[in-house]
Amino acid sequence: MSEPLVKSEQLPLARFDQFVDQCLYGRSGFYATVGRAGRRGGDFVTSPEVGPLFGEVVANAIDHWWADAGSPANFTVYDVGCGPGALLRSVRRSRPERPWNLIGVDIAAAALTAEPKSGNSSDPEIQVLAELPENIEGAVVLGNELLDNMPFRIVEKVANGLNEVFVEVVGQQGEFTATEVLVPYSPTDDELSPSIAFDLPAVAAELPIGTRLPLLNDAGRWVEATLARKPAHLCLFDYGTATTAELAVRGGWLRTYRQHERGSDPYDRPGSCDITTDVPADQLPNVSSVSTQAEFLQQWGIAELVAEGKAHWQANAHAPNVAALKMRSRISESEALLDSGGLGLWNVLHWGS
Ligand SMILES: C[S@@+](CC[C@H](N)C(=O)[O-])C[C@H]1O[C@@H](n2cnc3c(N)ncnc32)[C@H](O)[C@@H]1O
Repeated sequence: MSEPLVKSEQLPLARFDQFVDQCLYGRSGFYATVGRAGRRGGDFVTSPEVGPLFGEVVANAIDHWWADAGSPANFTVYDVGCGPGALLRSVRRSRPERPWNLIGVDIAAAALTAEPKSGNSSDPEIQVLAELPENIEGAVVLGNELLDNMPFRIVEKVANGLNEVFVEVVGQQGEFTATEVLVPYSPTDDELSPSIAFDLPAVAAELPIGTRLPLLNDAGRWVEATLARKPAHLCLFDYGTATTAELAVRGGWLRTYRQHERGSDPYDRPGSCDITTDVPADQLPNVSSVSTQAEFLQQWGIAELVAEGKAHWQANAHAPNVAALKMRSRISESEALLDSGGLGLWNVLHWGS
């Protein structure tokens, strides 16, 4: 990346979150064009796309929450940022008998609907909305790798305070050049809400000069607005840390993905790669519980599902059919989902009892 320009006054530039918004969700952005988030063979593989096991374990958790609610005949589960819908399809296949309304929500719903279907007629159809409805009281709201994909700001500690990253984008469709510009940070009216304890000046005061950190205002406000609608459970799976300070010191939180590879520079061919951040939990409303993905999956019975898969495979290995092969694949899926150097370390943020 070239040295950033430093400007002392506000110029008609895109703030980093506006730049991310355009790069990801603009008309010629990542999701409208090349984006293959979550899809096998795509730019990265998410837990629901590893295979059906993730959804089968999540279905165990939903079953418990549904029983807790008195096993109502009407019970809705939303998957926000559902992408191609793998999670809810696995949940449906795992519990076809349950009277659950499974509804996907994705800001890129129009692009997803326009996609060709998988061609597998046994795939359960999942309705996908562009927005979470107002009335979600008592529902379960899930989101896998959602918050990391919401536009975020970046600030950098300097000797006399904080600078904020803006981006100057020059060029025509598909031929953009993006250059970073640092502008003195000024709090604006889309700061984190007072109900979120994160104190930027206090956190920045403890950091070395030159340290950068992400501000997840959109994600914080989205969680707050969702909780205000009183779902019974909000359960979000994402990469991140407990605190912003931890993330800032560790670095490496700005992630770009292109064709399975971690990229390094979000300014390289804007719109051609995914731009995401690790999610620090202290920039969100207080969570009821945080666990790692490995802990969550163990709590909800992954070991039993894998043992069942192994036993089924062993009993059928002499004449394997598709069902037996699927059961065997639980073994490799669980290794990927529990990987202590990868998906197993993701955080599961749960609001609800
Ligand atoms: C990284 S992909 C994850 C897809 C899927 N959950 C998975 O795990 O395979 C993130 C998805 O979140 C969607 N998204 C981002 N912000 C959103 C928002 N505010 N509301 C709904 N969907 C959103 C994006 O369009 C994208 O499909």
